[in-house]
Amino acid sequence: MDKIACSVNSLYERYPYPSLPIRNENDLSHKLHANIMSKILKTAGIDQSSLQGKDIMDAGCGTGEKSCYFAYHGAKVTSIDLSCSSLAKGKKLADTFGLKVDFNRCDIKDFKTQKKFDHIFCLGVLHHTNDPYGRFCIISDMCKPGGTITIGLYNSYGRFVHRAKRAWIQLNAGEDIEKRMEFVERTIYGRKFKNTHEQTYAADKYANPYESYHTINEVIEWFNKNNITYTGLYPYSDIGVFQSFLTQLKWLKSRNGFFIISGRKN
Ligand SMILES: C[S@@+](CC[C@H](N)C(=O)[O-])C[C@H]1O[C@@H](n2cnc3c(N)ncnc32)[C@H](O)[C@@H]1O
Repeated sequence: MDKIACSVNSLYERYPYPSLPIRNENDLSHKLHANIMSKILKTAGIDQSSLQGKDIMDAGCGTGEKSCYFAYHGAKVTSIDLSCSSLAKGKKLADTFGLKVDFNRCDIKDFKTQKKFDHIFCLGVLHHTNDPYGRFCIISDMCKPGGTITIGLYNSYGRFVHRAKRAWIQLNAGEDIEKRMEFVERTIYGRKFKNTHEQTYAADKYANPYESYHTINEVIEWFNKNNITYTGLYPYSDIGVFQSFLTQLKWLKSRNGFFIISGRKN
């Protein structure tokens, strides 16, 4: 494991993300769909009903809720993640609902397969690695022609205020994850974390040892170089140079600067 993977992994081993409270089939299928999956699928032009029988890769699956959602809708899912504790939670969730998901402990860059996938998802992962574009190329090579690839990244403009907060946390609490968490709980929340999900969310947002920032145009360039045609963006926007700049400025206020972008492999 490289140095960044090692430090990022120490966070997710301790705070497996997103650790969503999925208690029943309604949570897994309908709530998850309404909250986030419908938006993610829309960027790639995929309908929930078309997932049946599809080969899906969930790269950096975390605690596996999205992997289980795909499996619940009949997809054949391969999931990889570095974090053993996240994968253990994912497996437990899949077992609870009797779902088959092929979970693998692996860095994206080391995953070997002959298989090509219909849909590839890599959400909130690449910006925690030492070479986001390199790993993007690796996953896009696993995509079938006509298949889709969806990635979620932190935005260079939208994350600006958050970056200032991270610098402030670093100044006061240093590198140590637990010290950071204690500082965040005391100063940003001003109370004890309510539950595991809140604590996990805070860890991912404020205590992450490493994150990088990306623009829409940069990703469009990644797509062009890998023979991928842009299909959609969330939060929704036009992607002309001017519109995309305005959109990214708007994210400064509303979205913590996280965006999801999809394309279709030619
Ligand atoms: C913010 S979580 C996102 C989890 C999930 N994709 C989601 O959307 O909820 C980031 C995940 O990426 C994993 N990760 C980070 N670097 C990785 C790498 N190089 N290879 C595989 N997984 C990685 C972490 O272990 C963590 O579970």
